[in-house]
Amino acid sequence: MHPPTATTASDGSTPLLEVRDISLSFDGVQALHRLSFAVRRGEICALIGPNGAGKSSLLNLLNGVYAPDAGSIHYDGQPFTRMEPFDAAQRGIGRTFQNNALFHRLSVQDNVLSGLSRHGCSTFIEHALHLPRARREAAQFMERTEATMAFLNLLAYRHTPVGQLPYGLQKRVELGRALVSEPRLLLLDEPMAGMNAAEKQEISRYITRLHHELGATVVLIEHDIGVVMNLSHHVVVLDYGRKVGDGTPAQVQANPDVIAAYLGLAHAETLP
Ligand SMILES: Nc1ncnc2c1ncn2[C@@H]1O[C@H](COP(=O)(O)OP(=O)(O)OP(=O)(O)O)[C@@H](O)[C@H]1O
Ligand SMILES: [Mg+2]
Repeated sequence: MHPPTATTASDGSTPLLEVRDISLSFDGVQALHRLSFAVRRGEICALIGPNGAGKSSLLNLLNGVYAPDAGSIHYDGQPFTRMEPFDAAQRGIGRTFQNNALFHRLSVQDNVLSGLSRHGCSTFIEHALHLPRARREAAQFMERTEATMAFLNLLAYRHTPVGQLPYGLQKRVELGRALVSEPRLLLLDEPMAGMNAAEKQEISRYITRLHHELGATVVLIEHDIGVVMNLSHHVVVLDYGRKVGDGTPAQVQANPDVIAAYLGLAHAETLP
């Protein structure tokens, strides 16, 4: 029997990502319950919902950290239910984490470069012996690291240990580490958490640019509804692991279920 193929959108293209009837639980806690949605190629899709709604768990499914209890995920028209983070990186899925997961004693440059650690072809021995393939790969990786630091205006800090940078710049380095592998799908878990309005605007501009100039499809978790409404084309709303809204920012903002479950109650302080 052939595995089911991804559904086709009205314009004839398959979505880059499709989640079908996914469930996930942890020791009796139902983190996600029969969740389905699709992300079209080239869109910025925001995932919103109150604390504990299952947003980060969903990203962990999408890049292979967890496997779903039930349901399937289709990426680029192909189903996967079990995919290791290594496979996800190889297939062009990059991500950042909610809790800054940088190497604080290493420089900005080394942190960005570390985003390519799952993309090499040459072996440890080839590197140790400085064989040609290893040298070529190292030069290519350095070029990409330079270009990524330039894109994010990080060149001035390249030799600074990340732990010495202000928080807003650390989040930018984390974005660089996810971006350096030139992912087709970028999963961003609260890239603006804890930032002031000016810093949020700055990160929003980088996300818009990487979407326009690099053509990346983005799935973004963000609590600030004002930012979400300005930045995204598509919004999926989760509440207690279930989908309570799915549409354009305007549709979602006008959806009474979303207002009841989320916008009006749980995070009223973040409304514009
Ligand atoms: N590794 C884990 N072990 C046990 N329970 C977990 C684990 N990860 C998540 N959970 C639980 O699953 C539910 C969803 O958590 P998740 O972190 O996905 O929510 P979230 O929407 O990202 O929340 P937040 O906005 O606070 O980041 C919560 O009840 C959480 O306690
Ligand atoms: Mg989370």
